[in-house]
Amino acid sequence: MCPESIENRWDILYRDYPQVYDAFSSVPYQPSIFDQVPKIINMQNLTVADIGAGTGKSSLALAKIARQVIGVEIEPAMLLKATQQAHEKNQTNIIFLCGDALAIPLSTDSVDVVTGFTLALFPPAQYREFIREGLRVAKKQVVYVGIPPGWYGGELHGVIDNPFKGTIDLEMDRIFIEEFQFQYQDVFSIQEYGTIENIVNLYGFIFGKKVIDYLKIENKTSIRWKFRVYWRE
Ligand SMILES: C[S@@+](CC[C@H](N)C(=O)[O-])C[C@H]1O[C@@H](n2cnc3c(N)ncnc32)[C@H](O)[C@@H]1O
Repeated sequence: MCPESIENRWDILYRDYPQVYDAFSSVPYQPSIFDQVPKIINMQNLTVADIGAGTGKSSLALAKIARQVIGVEIEPAMLLKATQQAHEKNQTNIIFLCGDALAIPLSTDSVDVVTGFTLALFPPAQYREFIREGLRVAKKQVVYVGIPPGWYGGELHGVIDNPFKGTIDLEMDRIFIEEFQFQYQDVFSIQEYGTIENIVNLYGFIFGKKVIDYLKIENKTSIRWKFRVYWRE
């Protein structure tokens, strides 16, 4: 039986409910982060390895501007959905590989850009290895799009019972900006879910019972997000 919420257990979401993640990420971001990031980092006609490809949203969006995209994903259930979506969309300049962000299954200097769109590694110390691997594989740039401190769950961060409140994203900033000297820029985006039922079934399912109650009381159908785009040449 499907629970009312997985209470922030993203590992369970990816393993058992890839269709819920896919529906959650299919609610368009306005303006789209996939439009905003290429305005900061040029990926036109380049080869891109998109690490943590999930069900394929980021990789498919990048494939519209890049010459070739290689999506790398560790969870077989997510990978299967990504492959099906690329096939359904007849997107021919994209392939998906099963692999780990901490040991990217690509050779040194084999792509122009390595991206990670909300790869969300845990514990955050793992970003060091992702960055080292990204710098090994990419000829030009490593780009990571994450959630800045205090924005887990977008504007509802205050409502979410998050046992790691503030700690993960602060450590990410330390690793990317201080240790590895990435540049960064913040972008904003809104997800509109249309109906209370839809937002509760997706956002509430992922972020927990307190969020479900809050959304119903406030009659809220949209969520504002802040993303941090980190990049290094
Ligand atoms: C929040 S989803 C983002 C998916 C996609 N980039 C998007 O924008 O829709 C994070 C994905 O990273 C994957 N992931 C987590 N740890 C990973 C690792 N060590 N190596 C590769 N993928 C990983 C998860 O399985 C999940 O599919």
